[in-house]
Order: sequence, then structure tokens, then C-alpha cells
Amino acid sequence: MIKVDEKNGVLIVKDKKGSKKYMIGSPEAFSIISKLWLRSGWDSKYVYSFTWMGRPIIQLPEDLIRIQEVIYRVKPDVIIETGIAHGGTLVFHASLCKAMGHGRVIGIDIEIRPHNRKAIEEHELFNYITLVEGGSVEEGVVNSVKRMVKSDERGLVILDSNHSKQHALAELNAYSSLVAIDSYIIAEDGIMEALVGAPRSNDDWSWNNPKAAAEEFVKNHDNFIIEEPKFQFNEGSIIERVTYWPSAFLRRIK
Ligand SMILES: C[S@@+](CC[C@H](N)C(=O)[O-])C[C@H]1O[C@@H](n2cnc3c(N)ncnc32)[C@H](O)[C@@H]1O
Repeated sequence: MIKVDEKNGVLIVKDKKGSKKYMIGSPEAFSIISKLWLRSGWDSKYVYSFTWMGRPIIQLPEDLIRIQEVIYRVKPDVIIETGIAHGGTLVFHASLCKAMGHGRVIGIDIEIRPHNRKAIEEHELFNYITLVEGGSVEEGVVNSVKRMVKSDERGLVILDSNHSKQHALAELNAYSSLVAIDSYIIAEDGIMEALVGAPRSNDDWSWNNPKAAAEEFVKNHDNFIIEEPKFQFNEGSIIERVTYWPSAFLRRIK
């Protein structure tokens, strides 16, 4: 049980082991409150309430700021993303490419609904975007995406399609070769592990999730490590991301 003593700025956490008090501005209290906030946001579908330049974007805004920090640092030639939905993240990445004066985006989805395709194709940033329709681990799709990326192009890959462990692992295997050294493949939505019991969750999410896939992938690929991207600026005391993407950033090291 969690109690908040707002007047004294104290968080009281009671469990089987007893009761602990944290100053509300401490990293420990911030972490406890953030996890609760993430769970509340999942239950209330808070992340289904944003757009980027007109397109619905199903992401936690803080994750977008963090991935922006990574993209700006890496400055990839090409961003490959599985899972398009309404196209919000494709437009987000395209807007960064335009602002940086560098890069383009390839998006892959098993089904691009006609109204979404139309809106993306009519978007002012569409000339930065290539759409590929098909299952992201189908051989033909993987091969055609690979043909779109030149051997000297520096890729950054984002996985946001089917989040089962098996599928995320298959995507890691299929697309990791497109990732440049010191760039990343990002296996999103490992938060599933922490959502068992929540609405719209399944009991197998405790192991059947992209975080588990990322952990298994790095065990068998010594050219990748799971590494938290360093905050590019931090004058505060919080050093942990508030995120739907725990253990998601796999950096290619060789
Ligand atoms: C969470 S949504 C993507 C959201 C989008 N990246 C955003 O943030 O706005 C997941 C998408 O993955 C697609 N998808 C599911 N299974 C897939 C597969 N096997 N291959 C490619 N796309 C798939 C779905 O059609 C859906 O549009």
C-alpha cells in the first residue's frame, strides 16, 4: 500500500516486510510513483491520446524525447521501423530527418489500412518515408527492405509490431544486420512484463515480451549489448527513464 503525506513531502510504502518512508523528491519515490503512473496510464489508455504533426502516435511522450536524443546523436542514414499503425512514429522520425537535414525512414506493417495509407501518403513529410506492406519477418519483406538499404548506409532499427517474444526475436535476427556500429536496434514495449494482471494483458506477458527477446538475443550475439542511452542533459537527480521500453536499446558494439 502506498500513502502520500503531501504536507511533509513523504511517500510511505507498506508491504509484508513493513513500512518504508521516502522523501517525495528522492529517486526511490520517483521510481515508485512513476511505475504506478505507468500502470495507471496503461489502464486508462493514456498513450492513445497523442498526435505528431497530425498523425496519431501510440507512444509515451517521454519515450519519444529519449529516442529523439538517440537519433540526434547517431544521425542514422536510414531508420527502419516495424509497426506503422496510423503512421505517427514514421512522421515523428521523418520530422527529425527533415530537421537534421539527414536521413529517411522505412516503415513496415502487415496491414496498412487504406485511410492510414492515404493520410501518410498525403503528409507533407511523405517524401522522407517508404511504406512496405507485409509481415515483418516474411522472407520476401525482409529481403526487399534489405535491398532498399545500401551497404554503406548507417541504419537504426525500431521494433514496434507484434510484441510476442518469438516475433520480436525473429525481427531482431532479421534486421540487426542493418544496424551500424554504435547505432541501435530498439525492441519496444518490454513494459508488458510489468503489466500482468492489468486490463488487456495476458498472464504469459511475464516472459512473452520484447524485453525477454532482447535479453535472449544479446546472449547469442556478442556484437550487441543492452545499454541504457545516457541522458544528454541532466541537472536533476533522476537517472532512470520513465518508459514503456525497459531494456529496449541494443547498441551494436562491433
Ligand atoms: C503498436 S502498433 C504501431 C504503432 C506505431 N509505431 C506508433 O507508435 O504510432 C503495431 C502495428 O504492428 C502491426 N503488426 C502486427 N503484426 C505485424 C507483423 N507480423 N509484421 C508487421 N507488422 C505487424 C500492426 O498491424 C500494427 O499496425
